[in-house]
Amino acid sequence: APAPAPVSTGHLPGPDVVNSLLETAHARFAPVTDGAVADYIPALACASPSLFGLCVVDVDGSVYRAGDTGHEFSIQSVAKPFVFALVAQVIGVDEARRQLGVNNSGLAFNSVLAIELNADRTANPMVNAGAIATTSLVPGSDAAARWAFIHEGLSRFAGHSLALDEEVYASESATNLRNRGIAQLLDGYGRMYSDPVEATDLYTRTCSLLITVEDLAVMSATLADGGVNPVTGEQVVDPLVCKRTLAVLATAGLYERSGEWLYDVGLPAKSGVSGAIMTVAPGKGGLATFSPPLDEAGNSVRGRLAAQFLSDALGLNIF
Ligand code: DON
Repeated sequence: APAPAPVSTGHLPGPDVVNSLLETAHARFAPVTDGAVADYIPALACASPSLFGLCVVDVDGSVYRAGDTGHEFSIQSVAKPFVFALVAQVIGVDEARRQLGVNNSGLAFNSVLAIELNADRTANPMVNAGAIATTSLVPGSDAAARWAFIHEGLSRFAGHSLALDEEVYASESATNLRNRGIAQLLDGYGRMYSDPVEATDLYTRTCSLLITVEDLAVMSATLADGGVNPVTGEQVVDPLVCKRTLAVLATAGLYERSGEWLYDVGLPAKSGVSGAIMTVAPGKGGLATFSPPLDEAGNSVRGRLAAQFLSDALGLNIF
């Protein structure tokens, strides 16, 4: 087999190299026991800490897997870039920047202080404040139409209709007082663009959509492929929307750890509290990892280690 590419080559290495490096990453990081499963959403607390899946999808549609790739989990914050892309596709990338902001808040994903400290309030579409504001921009004549826009849009990124985890949705709906407060505060600052209660509910429902690590790698590869899903061939969003979405991910996809992530991994990415991380190698493909134990910023510990290893070994780092 050819040696792994040590620097960016413009394409992924061949199938044997990708398969063997995924197996190596799985074997190397499965024994890591650092981090803790999120428990502030009660339904997430029962996730098995030993689950660990990795998947790469090439922009030509080839799929490579290691570990628990068939396990379903709620998408959580990894939905944020896709909802942003779908909304930016409708309102335009400049209007999206004006109404939502694109700078890192420097604070935790659910920070209320960030709303007070940042003059544009919403910070960016990857933190909860900016994501709920993004949801408030979703087009549709009523809540059902707006939900259909989100559900159908995310399903197009994945290539099939996504199911909802009713238990996670009910669990988070019963405990999301903080997100409801964030939405009200933004409304007070004129940075919510429809009813804050409805937008928070739609946001919570979005976070509860079920995916596998393989679904997420397809979604990631769609962002790598200028908005074309490489498995279905569908153009989901325009290349410009994709480019701007990846810029926001580089800036804020790993929250206040985004600088360290870019320093180590050199790729735009998005994490979520169920333990998923999607990493995008523009023009090449998408990597997705799933492992529930998180660090203090809410990012999967094994996912970060695997993304750093694979970015180097597969020659993906954009720098
Ligand atoms: O709103 C929340 O708190 C969750 N539904 C999503 C947060 C999340 O995934 C942050 N990621 N690390």
